[in-house]
Amino acid sequence: MPPTGTRLHPTGRLIPADLDEQKVRAVVDLFYARARADDVIGPVFNRVIAGPDWPEHLATITDFWSSMLLGTGRYAGRPMPRHLALRELGDAHFARWLSLFRATVEELCSPETAALFVDRAERVAHSFRIGLAISRGEDSTRIEILRAP
Ligand code: HEM
Repeated sequence: MPPTGTRLHPTGRLIPADLDEQKVRAVVDLFYARARADDVIGPVFNRVIAGPDWPEHLATITDFWSSMLLGTGRYAGRPMPRHLALRELGDAHFARWLSLFRATVEELCSPETAALFVDRAERVAHSFRIGLAISRGEDSTRIEILRAP
């Protein structure tokens, strides 16, 4: 029996004490504020998401991470097709996205929580890169997982 007050993810994994809805929102707000201003990934976000649509995008991403890490099941979307539609996406974008994301979670979270965020982000980014290669008729068999520097 886990000690009182500890929270379990539906997979049975212990949820770190500092990881809650407020923390997820804080990570999303800081990361996307930096992503929009970034010279590599910023132009992609700013081309696709108009200013008035950002609150809704941030709410969707918060639902995504809340579902992934807290098991709330709030996110029911399919992110893959939306990324396959981003014709300019390449490894330079994923490398920058991951390094910015690692810096943000390491600034705001405990090492344990930061590692959870980074592990999931690396896996999702990997699935997007494989999906992009397949959709572009490229060889997807030799794609190695990109680690957040
Ligand atoms: C190369 C780096 C990336 C760029 C430039 C990027 C850009 C975008 C853009 C422009 C959208 C809005 C698409 C639309 O509304 O049509 C979007 C949606 C989204 N992205 Fe990314 N993304 C990147 C990587 C990632 C990664 C690694 C994750 C997850 C760990 C992620 C999770 C999401 C989610 C959950 C959505 C919302 C999809 C929905 O509306 O249901 N993205 N992204």
